[in-house]
Amino acid sequence: MARQEIATLILAAGKGTRLRSRRAKVLHRAGGRTLVEHVMRAAQPLGAPIFVVVGHQAEDVAALVRPFGAETILQEPQQGTGHALQAARKSLAPFRRAIVIPGDAPLLRTETLAALAQTHRASQAAATVLTAVLENPTGYGRIVRRADGGVGAIVEEKSAAEAERAIREVNSGVYCFELEKLWDLLAELRPENAHRELYLTDVVALLDRRGERIAAQQADAAEIPGCNTRRELADVDRLFRRRKVEELMASGVTISLPETVLVDAEVEIGPDSALDPGTQLLGATRVGSDVQIGAGCVIADSAIEDGAVIRPYCVISQSRVGRGAVVGPFAHLRDGAELAAGARVGNYVEMKKSRLGEGAKAMHLTYLGDATIGRETNVGAGTITCNYDGVRKNPTTIGERTFIGSGTELIAPVEIGDDAYVAAGSTITQSVPADALAIARARQETKPGWARGRRARLEAERAAGAKPAAPKAKGAGARRGPKRKKPSRRAR
Ligand code: UD1
Ligand code: CA
Repeated sequence: MARQEIATLILAAGKGTRLRSRRAKVLHRAGGRTLVEHVMRAAQPLGAPIFVVVGHQAEDVAALVRPFGAETILQEPQQGTGHALQAARKSLAPFRRAIVIPGDAPLLRTETLAALAQTHRASQAAATVLTAVLENPTGYGRIVRRADGGVGAIVEEKSAAEAERAIREVNSGVYCFELEKLWDLLAELRPENAHRELYLTDVVALLDRRGERIAAQQADAAEIPGCNTRRELADVDRLFRRRKVEELMASGVTISLPETVLVDAEVEIGPDSALDPGTQLLGATRVGSDVQIGAGCVIADSAIEDGAVIRPYCVISQSRVGRGAVVGPFAHLRDGAELAAGARVGNYVEMKKSRLGEGAKAMHLTYLGDATIGRETNVGAGTITCNYDGVRKNPTTIGERTFIGSGTELIAPVEIGDDAYVAAGSTITQSVPADALAIARARQETKPGWARGRRARLEAERAAGAKPAAPKAKGAGARRGPKRKKPSRRAR
């Protein structure tokens, strides 16, 4: 069988003990994406078949890499990077070479990987190691150069002698191998190290001892960080965030205090939109052009269309805000809330699975759940759709140009027709036809002079020095105010 030229192998089976997490390391996120997704995105454009070694939380990792067309290889148990290569032997048998990439190095760029493969091919070495010179090499394997400049060994930090620890050229964990020369050396690896693991890095000294040549290619130090600790993860995350806001600013988005703004990798924002400090745009959020997003907004998986204004401190998820619509401050849109063009939602309004038609408004202290509201309708302050009957969620349908008075409760399921009015303070239990007025509240009773009478009575009692009489019989306490009458129950 003719050998295929090259494969890409990603090592993603490890647990990531130093993160002190139950989650596998490569499933942790930086810049809004898992580490392994970053690596897949860098590797995919190389065009070589991709294999991913999985082990810890294998199913979850496999689910993330399959959409990239990768094939997974199970490493069980996980006994080190050298052992991961042993596990991959069968799958890589048809290939002459492999680029090996650690799954926890999310900053690697495709160009760097391609250049490594290119250097390797040109050098005809048995292996080529991607290295970098770091200010602080702590935690990385050190590159021990031979007198002739070739690579003689990679020494892991814990096994390194003092002089070796001073070396600032480190192993990125990315290599290109001639597989033919690798396989029998893998069998010679021994777990004689601090972690009782088979280190892939030990292969380098073994190749050198056999008289094979090992080349090195230096990368930019910024590209190689692995994310072994939460500290490193946070540093890498910050870098991605910075990159993203730089890109956005370069494309015409105004961002004040960009270091306080957090934008996930997939988010798109049109030109002349502006983000105020402390905003977060997450997931698959799309923001149009000329959109203003006020301080402290958190927007996830939502569409904000051209010219919309999101005032400060709104929380919006899985929702759509139409052209020129205005939201907030302090509004909460979730689970399929939708504002058509020019609709407005004001402060302390929550919308869930609800639609406000064009130009419709709900400006203050309102809950709209499972509601459809027609165009130009005004929903008064404090309106509540009572959508939950304790068992089911029920719909409320409000027509166009209707007026819902303040403090209305709409007991769903219920419908309000076009151009209808609902009087303030109503509890609506029955549907209201188009053009009608519905009032559903207790009728007011006014007692002229009541307060004056009460004051007079109190004054008289005080002048007489009278103590309030002790209650004589059940329910018959001394009255200090005017005689109370049962409130009228004439409700409409
Ligand atoms: C490794 C290198 C080190 C290098 C550093 C660069 C070794 C022994 N050391 O150290 O020289 O400077 O990367 O970041 O290789 N993995 C498996 N199966 C296993 C163990 C690990 O698939 O049994 C995967 C991990 O999921 C990870 C990658 O291999 O994605 C690297 O493993 P990690 O434990 O992070 O190696 P480092 O200690 O960082
Ligand atoms: Ca690592």
